[in-house]
Amino acid sequence: MRKPIIGGNWKMNKTSMEAENLVRKLILELNSYEDVETVVFPPFPYLQKVKTLLQGTGIAVGAQNMFWEEKGAYTGEVSPLMLVDVGCRYVILGHSERREYFGETDEKVNRKIKAALKFGLRPLVCIGEKLEERKKGLAEKVVESQLRGSLSGLNPSQISQIVIAYEPVWAIGTGETATPQQAQKMHKFIREILERICGEKIAQSVRIQYGGSVRPDNIRELMDQPDIDGALVGGASLDAISFVKIVKYGGK
Ligand code: 13P
Repeated sequence: MRKPIIGGNWKMNKTSMEAENLVRKLILELNSYEDVETVVFPPFPYLQKVKTLLQGTGIAVGAQNMFWEEKGAYTGEVSPLMLVDVGCRYVILGHSERREYFGETDEKVNRKIKAALKFGLRPLVCIGEKLEERKKGLAEKVVESQLRGSLSGLNPSQISQIVIAYEPVWAIGTGETATPQQAQKMHKFIREILERICGEKIAQSVRIQYGGSVRPDNIRELMDQPDIDGALVGGASLDAISFVKIVKYGGK
């Protein structure tokens, strides 16, 4: 039985005060809601504050990125050790915006996953095809290659710690969601690849989130699909009312 996991990826949004207001509202509504694992991913400067506010609640905190080294002369980077130190449980790795604007490759994602696991952080690994790739019929090929590249060299027990997020790039921030059938087809495909990599038992236990224009009005249909185990929510996670609705509609 896979417990659904819903994440709010705030991306590069919110002031400190806005972050606090949002979190306070989430606590009121979600503190005792246990059907879904809820995680928020604030920008780095607010991680500690958000973690402090969420202490003792059922809502976890994660970061949106990290470097693979533990410490050293890497100006501007943040290490897995630091994320653990401020109370992060998860870290998003390989988001398409990082691949697009910051040169993140599968090889870098792979190094980051290994570093995160070493420090006990759970990687939330994003994969997904672009529109041109889907139009050319290459969606599955691209997703398989990202998945295999990102997970290269990991053993089944390491893979069991990971959450996968399937985020078709054409659905991110566009208002155009993959249909539940399109998403289910890809999630099933991802699970089949996982099975080939690490065996059926682990593949059946790994949670695969869908991301891309998830809203209160489409979450239910997505969550009804057998291989969709949660959502990674961007825009709609910035508003407490809509994020709470998404989390509460997410219970299977
Ligand atoms: P939107 O929900 O804004 O489409 O963003 C999805 C996403 O990129 C989550 O990581």
